[in-house]
Amino acid sequence: MLFGPPGTGKTTFARAVASRLDWPFVELFPSRLSDTPGGLAAALRTSFEVVGHLEHAVVFIDEVEEIASRRGGIPPSPTQGVTNELLKLVADFRDHSGRLLICATNFVRALDAAFLRHGRFDYVIPIGLPDPEARAAIWQRYIPASVVPSIDLGVLVAASDGFTPADIEYAARKASQEALARALRTGDEPSPGEELTTNDYLAALAGTRATVSEATVVEFLDDITKIARL
Ligand SMILES: Nc1ncnc2c1ncn2[C@@H]1O[C@H](COP(=O)(O)OP(=O)(O)OP(=O)(O)O)[C@@H](O)[C@H]1O
Ligand SMILES: [Mg+2]
Repeated sequence: MLFGPPGTGKTTFARAVASRLDWPFVELFPSRLSDTPGGLAAALRTSFEVVGHLEHAVVFIDEVEEIASRRGGIPPSPTQGVTNELLKLVADFRDHSGRLLICATNFVRALDAAFLRHGRFDYVIPIGLPDPEARAAIWQRYIPASVVPSIDLGVLVAASDGFTPADIEYAARKASQEALARALRTGDEPSPGEELTTNDYLAALAGTRATVSEATVVEFLDDITKIARL
């Protein structure tokens, strides 16, 4: 179970695990399954049956809180039957080797306690904001290789504290677009090392709002102490 604020890389991580294992990646979309006749619980059962025919598979369910939120209440929540079904499916799934189930959520505290109990998921892993080392790697991925040598990476890493990978990706693209627009405006061929500068990235970053608020970070840290299991 992966949990954390939006844009921190949960889906990317799940895909990377499948790619490392060289197993097929099967993503189930709760919102799409609910449209099938027979309802969500039946659709989930069918999907897991189909996956059962694969020799290996990483099954990924994003936004799992939609189908595994806290049960109970009067009247019972409409998703209660679905949550029960999913609990059964997870138990069966665990009985077979060669398969990995990864779920992701932005709202781990909304999940049914039974779902997070020992024996259901081996790991409940927080995916938070990137640390300086991770930010350096993310910047290098989104800055064109020809430009990287002339960029002061340390400055960008420091300025992007509190930003998600998605925020950094957005700022990097914006800087590229601005630089292109500038080159088209002036009509001059930029000299090497001048196409995109550290300041271009800083300007783009200044115009990018961090997705994750401080309040969300506080909640996330609380979730880590109460719910994470590594
Ligand atoms: N380790 C990484 N290196 C580079 N880019 C990354 C990394 N992790 C995530 N990203 C980029 O950040 C963006 C958001 O990542 P992703 O969709 O995995 O986040 P998420 O946690 O699943 O978000 P959500 O909670 O909204 O589903 C993607 O465009 C992805 O390419
Ligand atoms: Mg995602």
